[in-house]
Amino acid sequence: MASNSAAGICRPADNGKAQGGSLRGLLVRDGLVRHPFDLEFGVRTSGLIAGRHLTTGHRHDRHATAYYAVAPSVFRGMIVRWRRCRPLAPIDEFTFIDLGAGMGRAVLLAAEFPFRAVSGVELNPALAQIGRRNLAIWRAAGRARAPMRMICRDAAEFELPPGPCVAFLFNPFAGPVLRRMVRNWAGKLAGRSRKLDVLYVNNEQESILRQQAGFTRLFHGEIRRSQADAAAERRILARQPGACYAAMNWENCSIHRWMGTDETSCSDNDARPRGAGGERA
Ligand SMILES: C[S@@+](CC[C@H](N)C(=O)[O-])C[C@H]1O[C@@H](n2cnc3c(N)ncnc32)[C@H](O)[C@@H]1O
Repeated sequence: MASNSAAGICRPADNGKAQGGSLRGLLVRDGLVRHPFDLEFGVRTSGLIAGRHLTTGHRHDRHATAYYAVAPSVFRGMIVRWRRCRPLAPIDEFTFIDLGAGMGRAVLLAAEFPFRAVSGVELNPALAQIGRRNLAIWRAAGRARAPMRMICRDAAEFELPPGPCVAFLFNPFAGPVLRRMVRNWAGKLAGRSRKLDVLYVNNEQESILRQQAGFTRLFHGEIRRSQADAAAERRILARQPGACYAAMNWENCSIHRWMGTDETSCSDNDARPRGAGGERA
């Protein structure tokens, strides 16, 4: 495993040389062990697919880290953190967008909150299709408090919808794609009082957000997995030892807010967050 981080997803050293077998890592013979989340809710979000197997033919394939779904406890811990950062609008005005949504676990979890809408953006059509089925199961079970959709698209090209947005990232891609996406946002938002918060789990590339004018970091620190998630992930990863994911008991996370690049934007975003600085949750 090639890892340059203490915990979490990384790009394997040969990531640039994508080879066939687009969804290798999702079968029992690949070592698949289903996460308790899937067993409880009858959805399909488990599995670990190395970045080199996430081949779609898109020029950004080579920057994909891996497919692996966020631990539910980390996701919920991140939402608690975000709400402590005093969002600049009520939650039911925010659209939640998971960039690099995979099979949609974070989309399902987000839809348990009363967001205005929840969207997943996923480059791999096979994963997006599985995600759509999961969304249908979630709706049918009455668990969705927000309208949900799954869009098959390159995250770097995705246009943010109007109104306040929360962008969620579970270390989906390497620096070149993140930089392109963030620059695209900054270009579109410059001079406008738009509300955008970025929740970044396993934040290996957060320096890109820190260096982008207009963004301010509100939180950085470790968000712990629950004991149940930690135990489940140890079982899962023991069966996929060659995979490029290292599960620790926490994820390094950060929250960033678009504050604008001119005085108009900043004065609109004048609510100062609590809890800035490094913390352990
Ligand atoms: C670590 S998984 C995260 C899955 C999901 N966010 C969750 O937490 O359950 C990262 C996902 O990002 C997707 N991805 C990688 N590059 C992408 C891109 N340029 N645009 C959209 N999705 C991308 C991968 O296919 C993979 O499914």
